[in-house]
Amino acid sequence: MSAAPVLDTLPVTLPRLAEKKRLGEPVVMVTAYDHPSARVADAAGVDLVLVGDSAANVVLGYSSTVPVSVDELIMLGAAVRRGLRTPLMISDMPFGSYEASNELAIANAQRFVKEAGADAVKLEGGGKMVDRARAIVEAGIPVMGHVGLTPQTATALGGYKAQGRTADAALRVAEDALALQEAGCFSIVFEAIPAAVSEELMYSMEIPVIGIGSGPATDGQVLVFHDLLGIGEGGAARFVKRYGDLMDDMVRGMTAYADDVRAKRYPAPEHTYSIDPGELADFTTRLKAQ
Ligand code: KIV
Repeated sequence: MSAAPVLDTLPVTLPRLAEKKRLGEPVVMVTAYDHPSARVADAAGVDLVLVGDSAANVVLGYSSTVPVSVDELIMLGAAVRRGLRTPLMISDMPFGSYEASNELAIANAQRFVKEAGADAVKLEGGGKMVDRARAIVEAGIPVMGHVGLTPQTATALGGYKAQGRTADAALRVAEDALALQEAGCFSIVFEAIPAAVSEELMYSMEIPVIGIGSGPATDGQVLVFHDLLGIGEGGAARFVKRYGDLMDDMVRGMTAYADDVRAKRYPAPEHTYSIDPGELADFTTRLKAQ
């Protein structure tokens, strides 16, 4: 790959992440799901790479994040791992892989570390999930929390919509965020929370907060790879800013290839291998004799 310069070649560690917060340096996070997307994130010098369960929607074609399995995310995570040098890699724990018990949560978190090579895991929600986060942290695996809009439980939240838009709802988000911080999470995602609510919450957050659709006050931002580069069909959420239109570029390229094949313009002589004329004559004679 002809890559942009790597901006910072030191591996991102948890102490470096905490230091970034202390210094007020914005943290850049993006999702990745395979080796090429990991190489792009690495070459762009992002800090954190999340192997998100959004893989369910953007690469596996499911209609929500609910069906994706631990095995599927481990396979994608291992490919991402092979493409990363400096960013910290976080694997999302999918729906059903941690809720039922601390034992289940620890066992699956260990799989992400051992089999995918993740540095940390992320799980969604507060309430009972705070215990799960604490148990995984106590088992020695760093955990990122995720509050606000939690897509795995979107149905229970009333759909894919902003959370914390009343005082009561904002207080529930605050309680969850503080409980996850107290449970030992090294960082937390705020998803689809009003900017003013995030801003108020930031006064109490000692761990780095990564926002998505939650305004500019958080310590960093995360976007889904396919959303930010414009890969995919259909509209994106209000908070997405597109930095490319790769779907259009890819369809254009593929259409040109199909046109060339049908018009017999491809392959051209420069795309073919040659053979010594004597060898060819010998081959033709012997082939006919068979
Ligand atoms: O799975 C995902 O992509 C996420 C981000 C939106 C934070 O959880």
